[in-house]
Amino acid sequence: MSTPSTALKIGVLGSGSGSNMQSVVDAIKAGTLNAEMRLVLSDVPNAKILDRARTHNIPCAWLDCAPFKTKLDGAAEQRCIEMLKKQGVDTVVLAGFMRIVKPGLLKAFPLRVLNIHPALLPAFPGLHGWQQALEYGAKVAGCTVHFVDAGTDTGPLIIQRAVPVLTGDTPETLHARIQAEEHIAYPEALRLLSEGRLRLSGRRVDIL
Ligand code: GRF
Repeated sequence: MSTPSTALKIGVLGSGSGSNMQSVVDAIKAGTLNAEMRLVLSDVPNAKILDRARTHNIPCAWLDCAPFKTKLDGAAEQRCIEMLKKQGVDTVVLAGFMRIVKPGLLKAFPLRVLNIHPALLPAFPGLHGWQQALEYGAKVAGCTVHFVDAGTDTGPLIIQRAVPVLTGDTPETLHARIQAEEHIAYPEALRLLSEGRLRLSGRRVDIL
């Protein structure tokens, strides 16, 4: 018998291609994730993630984050929170969102803001985690789904999936191998959240 779950009401923030958002939509459609995608927001007006949302008839919008270039703050943060709340969102999924989120959003959705990072945290936080791993000479790379806290890529870890770094890998081949795992990890983490199976003890997230 499967674990009873509560349908998550997901809002996605993304800046790029939206392949992770797509993996969540696919899991919802396949019936393996009990969730509804209520809103997709992008800080990039012509981002592919918005096209993907339109294809699936998911409400979506460009979120003008000016005057800030690297963070979601001030009036834009307030607008973002209002739009998410208006759509009934209870879980915020950062999927390739290239901005730092600030305490306002975290307070509006306590322990309900998740992120995916293309490295095995705490190794290689920040930009281009896969490239950092390759340049460092790591033998194993991967991805991490984590709760977001006030730091950058520092929140409690939910799921990690590892891949080998192979001889001859380029940033592109390694990133593609990591992304294939991201598309498994994010729906899985959200499924565990929807089933109430994530328990936070200090920094550790236990999977019940
Ligand atoms: C992913 O590699 C993710 O780990 C990072 O940004 C990328 C987003 O890709 N945070 P996509 O837009 O989901 O295709």
